[in-house]
Amino acid sequence: MAEFKVTRYRIKLSDDLRGVQQPFSAILLSDLHNASYGDGNSVLLQAIRNEKPEAVFVAGDMLVSTEKPQMDAALSLMDELTKQYPVYYVEGNHEYKVRQYAETYGGDGDRFFEAICSFGVHLLKNSCERADIQKMPFTIWGYELPWQCYRRFRRNELTAAQITEALGEPDEGRYNILLAHNPMYFEAYAAWGADLTLAGHLHGGVVRLPHFGGVISPQLQLFPKYDRGIFKRRGKQMVVSAGIGSHSIPIRINNPLELVVLDFT
Ligand SMILES: [Fe+2]
Repeated sequence: MAEFKVTRYRIKLSDDLRGVQQPFSAILLSDLHNASYGDGNSVLLQAIRNEKPEAVFVAGDMLVSTEKPQMDAALSLMDELTKQYPVYYVEGNHEYKVRQYAETYGGDGDRFFEAICSFGVHLLKNSCERADIQKMPFTIWGYELPWQCYRRFRRNELTAAQITEALGEPDEGRYNILLAHNPMYFEAYAAWGADLTLAGHLHGGVVRLPHFGGVISPQLQLFPKYDRGIFKRRGKQMVVSAGIGSHSIPIRINNPLELVVLDFT
């Protein structure tokens, strides 16, 4: 069985938003690609339970969009997680494909989304939900990136105006968390007004070299800028998960699979 590490990031909230309650943790899950750690993902579930999170944020690519999509492990994980935690979910490029090309995938995309919604997953489709966590006012957004943003070549630029067109304005006076699968557009997310963007997709750059970081993305971009870790820009932050599964280029060197814990203080 493959192993994963637990990576922690401290997310400092501004004083005016901080309540009187204790700091809390949340989980960022990305790029499971239908992996399973133990029977029914028992090892992963236990690692999540150990953190006693207030919420689970899913940044997409839980399944694999092969001809017959692989999604049983992703479905059972969502089923289990929603029994204990609020789960906020945005699609990745793999969910996009099975949803968009229903004929090719025999309607499995619809079945997947119907199932996770029936479990109680908060599926965010260019939409948001407000949640007060430990008395702190959060608005959690999910942005479905246009397909052109996933192309290997001739990738789209993305502007804050395009995000506003899809989502509207960020929620003033609240802490805006944006789930967006592809981290390449951090500048646009920050300019739009996301206080914290949560992303994945790049699998940590597959092979990591000292001083250089990740070498290549699943979209075959060399030395991707936002491969894994925490990034800051004009007071806005982004956390990028290296993923807890692999796909496309199924190797990892100096680049462990990871479960990300966000410690909000
Ligand atoms: Fe992806």
